[in-house]
Amino acid sequence: MAAIEDPRDAPPLRWGILGPGKIAHRFAREALAHTNQVITAVGSRNAARAGAFAHEYGIDHAYGDYRALVEDPEVDAVYVATPHSEHRTGALLALEAGKSVLVEKPLTRNAAEARELIDAASDAGVFLMEAMWSRFLPHMIEVKEALERGVVGDVVGLWADHGQMLNFGPEHRLLNPDLAGGALLDLGVYPISFAHFMLGKPDKVTAVGQLTETNVDGHASLIMSYPENVQAVLDTTLWAPTPCAAWIAGTEGRIEIARTFYAPSRFRITRLDGTSWSYDGRVPGGFQYQIAEVARCVAQGEVQSDLRSWQDTLDVMEIMDDARAQIGVVYPGE
Ligand SMILES: NC(=O)c1ccc[n+]([C@@H]2O[C@H](COP(=O)([O-])OP(=O)(O)OC[C@H]3O[C@@H](n4cnc5c(N)ncnc54)[C@H](OP(=O)(O)O)[C@@H]3O)[C@@H](O)[C@H]2O)c1
Repeated sequence: MAAIEDPRDAPPLRWGILGPGKIAHRFAREALAHTNQVITAVGSRNAARAGAFAHEYGIDHAYGDYRALVEDPEVDAVYVATPHSEHRTGALLALEAGKSVLVEKPLTRNAAEARELIDAASDAGVFLMEAMWSRFLPHMIEVKEALERGVVGDVVGLWADHGQMLNFGPEHRLLNPDLAGGALLDLGVYPISFAHFMLGKPDKVTAVGQLTETNVDGHASLIMSYPENVQAVLDTTLWAPTPCAAWIAGTEGRIEIARTFYAPSRFRITRLDGTSWSYDGRVPGGFQYQIAEVARCVAQGEVQSDLRSWQDTLDVMEIMDDARAQIGVVYPGE
């Protein structure tokens, strides 16, 4: 079993939240419930929205613009929780103010923007990480360790899906090309990041997709090919609630991760020699592990995490760029 550090043991940072939307509420709830981190400030494009959010979570400072948030001397780290199209500007603002930055997934709209942020963090000597929270969950770490121990023999294939029924109007960020909507960037980033964590960067990506009326991907299927005849088969859609499960099969057995594979979950290993066992990694919350990772890295003076490195994020962004090019999704200004 892998040693999983208690998120409460991470040294406290003073956090500022940039963009108090849906996911920012979850970040605040889980940081406060499951870590010793402090949320000092919140910034919105609208002062009343910032004030309401601050009131709900007992946050001392509320700002009606993002610049004031990142310039608050009592903020050590900024969590960027805006739509995909706005990640670049929000993160650059925080990096230029010298703040450590955790940016919601995907880091940016595309690999070129991701490189820009990474260069800015590198030049400033400031911490930057994509909030791929699944990577830090106990069951994910156990699955990776099992693979490395060879419990399923040589890997032959990996399968994962993430589909939800997200039937919103055309202005919603998930369907709006101006906000870099589409299934791949929002949901597909999970199975792709999972395959990348388990198998690394593929040699080749083959993608087929269907577009929404707004010209973002409503459904995308990817086959990623690796050396030694290994394949990953991934599916993502905004049009149906798929199982959101994952499995990895090898020459000596298989690992099956139950729904919801990218959230705290459980898995079963079944071997051809007749042995099998399960691991239950269901814990309340889930964001606390990535938040603690940021706090530990910053305390150690790191500019990136070894667990979700800049190269990991770039690899995943390049896979998504490649898939979007094949499917025909182009965001305005790209
Ligand atoms: N990790 C997860 O499980 C998870 C789940 C859902 C979403 N996410 C990610 O979280 C990010 C935000 O998603 P969300 O669902 O929280 O979105 P949301 O509810 O729409 O919130 C985004 C917030 O960003 C701010 N914003 C800044 N510029 C904006 C613009 N041009 N249009 C709209 N809002 C703008 C808004 O706050 P103010 O105007 O008040 O500043 C808004 O409340 C995305 O990157 C998404 O992929 C992650």
